[in-house]
Amino acid sequence: MNPTPVRKAVIPAAGFGTRFLPTAKSIPKEMLPIIDTPTIQHVVEEAVESGITDILMVIGKSKRAIEEHFYPNLDLEAELREKGKTDELEKIQAISKLANIHYIWQQELNGLGDAVSYARNFVGNEPFALLLGDTLLGIPGECKPVTGQLIEIYKQYGQNVVALEPVAEDKVSRYGIAGGNWVSEGSAVLKVDTLIEKPYPNEAPSNLAIASRYIFRPEIFEYLERTPRGKNNEIQLTDAMVAMLEDHSMYGLQLAEKRYDIGNKLDFLKTNIEFALRREDVGPGLREYIKEIASQC
Ligand code: UTP
Repeated sequence: MNPTPVRKAVIPAAGFGTRFLPTAKSIPKEMLPIIDTPTIQHVVEEAVESGITDILMVIGKSKRAIEEHFYPNLDLEAELREKGKTDELEKIQAISKLANIHYIWQQELNGLGDAVSYARNFVGNEPFALLLGDTLLGIPGECKPVTGQLIEIYKQYGQNVVALEPVAEDKVSRYGIAGGNWVSEGSAVLKVDTLIEKPYPNEAPSNLAIASRYIFRPEIFEYLERTPRGKNNEIQLTDAMVAMLEDHSMYGLQLAEKRYDIGNKLDFLKTNIEFALRREDVGPGLREYIKEIASQC
């Protein structure tokens, strides 16, 4: 099989981020740092390491900081050059060279499905990767990028692919859950035959939750166009995927990587601690501090 290569990615980042107010009122939650790097920079780097060259970010009001972050800042570059801060200079110059990044405004926040539908012209008739701008899968540099893993499966089957995270049985009702059959014994690839949004535990076909990374064939836009408003009066991406599954195949990859959802306060804190403990510059100091405060609180 030799399907059209996946070179485009869409990163929705327009959401209100109500779980992260008041910060998200003026600071995009996708720009929340993991130590010193905005979450969405890690997401873009994952796309680029997976072979993506062109990215469309769906943004909106209060999200301009995202655009600024990926544009060159010549004044800052001159300052760093003058002060001889070469490492910092190289780091910030690299950000604006990562990929061809384009932006579009989601005019009304009508949900994730609506945000994705803004990418129709950008995508054209090609397959594309979809990466949620507020979520990381695995620790960058320590695992193979998940988008790249999904692209490998797409290359094999030429069909839609989703990342699937095993979640605790009592938490299935928080997620879109996929059911199906493994393509072979011991494989981590599922041929998906059912998708259920937020099922009751006794109705869930598995404990495999759709996890913020997808490869779609361009036909997804036809299904999005026909998808009526669903839960929360929003256009739900999962509803369009359910309709698409009637006519097109879908595969799922059971992830070995952990999901870090930065838009959720507790996850944001845990992610920062976990990532920081692995770093040479701040890890040792933080480890000492955690021991100290854990014995006091
Ligand atoms: P979430 O489900 O986390 O929704 O979106 P949200 O509205 O941003 O956050 P809460 O629930 O109010 O706290 C997942 C991703 O989809 C984007 C978000 O920016 C986030 O990166 N999104 C969501 C959009 O781009 N547009 C939307 O209408 C909704």
